[in-house]
Amino acid sequence: MRAVDIIIKKRDGILLSDQELQDFLSNYLEGKVTDYQMSAFLMAVYLNGLSEGELKTLTKTMRDSGQLIDLEGVTKFLIDKHSTGGVGDKTSIALAPLLATFGIGTAKMSGKGLGHTGGTLDKFDSIPGFTFPDSEEAMVKTIEHTGVGIMGQTDNIVPLDKKLYALRDVTGTVSSFPLIASSIMSKKLAVRSDGIILDVKVGDGAFMKTLEDAQKLANIMKNIGEMFGRTVKVVLSGMEQPLGNAVGNGLEIYEAVQSLKGEGPKDFEVLITTITGIALVQKGDVKTVEEGIALAEAKLKTGEAVNVLRDFVADCGGDASYIENPEKFLSAPHQLELKAKETGCISELMAEKVGIAAMMLGAGRETKEDKIDHAVGIVLNKKIGDQVFEGDTLATLYYREENQKLSEANELLESAYKFSSESIQKPNIILDIQ
Ligand code: URA
Repeated sequence: MRAVDIIIKKRDGILLSDQELQDFLSNYLEGKVTDYQMSAFLMAVYLNGLSEGELKTLTKTMRDSGQLIDLEGVTKFLIDKHSTGGVGDKTSIALAPLLATFGIGTAKMSGKGLGHTGGTLDKFDSIPGFTFPDSEEAMVKTIEHTGVGIMGQTDNIVPLDKKLYALRDVTGTVSSFPLIASSIMSKKLAVRSDGIILDVKVGDGAFMKTLEDAQKLANIMKNIGEMFGRTVKVVLSGMEQPLGNAVGNGLEIYEAVQSLKGEGPKDFEVLITTITGIALVQKGDVKTVEEGIALAEAKLKTGEAVNVLRDFVADCGGDASYIENPEKFLSAPHQLELKAKETGCISELMAEKVGIAAMMLGAGRETKEDKIDHAVGIVLNKKIGDQVFEGDTLATLYYREENQKLSEANELLESAYKFSSESIQKPNIILDIQ
């Protein structure tokens, strides 16, 4: 069938057969369907949605468009944890070592950050000498030795998703539930795992702004997982304000290490222990998530997971003394304290503004070509629900140079805080588990 006929069918809400959709997608990858035809098709999907069958075919064709990572040689139970991205999200850095202390391996691809959210790859780059395993064999080795398997994204995995995502980005078709769900799930299905845990962020700093939207996305992704015989659990977690206190690459690794010693911020601890609880249920070690959480909390008190992170860093050629002495991450030459100009209870701390302020200090990229300064960022001293008095320190900016960008970042950070004369409850980090 001609490409234009496929577009017309989708435009008119007529179901496409597996073969029609698969051929159309494969032809696009091979350059036989043009970008303008695919743009029209994506807009038709955006407006009309996809049937279950079409969703499965799209996901499968994306998954099979590149290399499948089957991690042959891994003997451990494998979890793939994926987050939809937010501000201060250092979850993988702490979670993978914590899971490893229970004999659970992680298998994860991680990427660079762009805009107000950071990437795990950039965070680990704060450690001198560190390079991610760059092949499947290298990843199998680190999983078997330490339990931690995180590797940089390669161009060989789901190339069709990469091509489609780049087009969606410039054609107003990113925010479509079936397109987001199939894009995320195609990448999860391309990597072998025994359980998939998706952390869908909800709120100001996230893709999904409301709990209802996040629940809808979670449902579609779980459904896709079921169609492919995979176990998927979804945690819906709050991103009204940044996760934890640190936003910035080295600062976030510092916080992750502190958390693995049981000395991190409460919200972050709750998130990593909850995900560990879910993983322990998936592995069959405990019956309920609550039992798993209790085990994870006890484990953090032992500090055992810090040794796992240290070993993973050493395996990746990184200077492991940074994990032993995490104060080394606090290396920005200057600090500026943002003081409260009023007394009250903090009612808002807009995650996106904090993320952009950190980016302005040099912690993130505005464009793909920008270089990151791993030492700079923001540490929040007060968050939603905290009572503050005029003159209290709200946050500390870690910076390199006093310049126009520093004062703009400081102003933006200040505008992220809103105060109330009434007392405000601290928000829950876990909003739902599906
Ligand atoms: N993340 C993805 O991987 N794909 C999307 O479409 C949106 C977010």
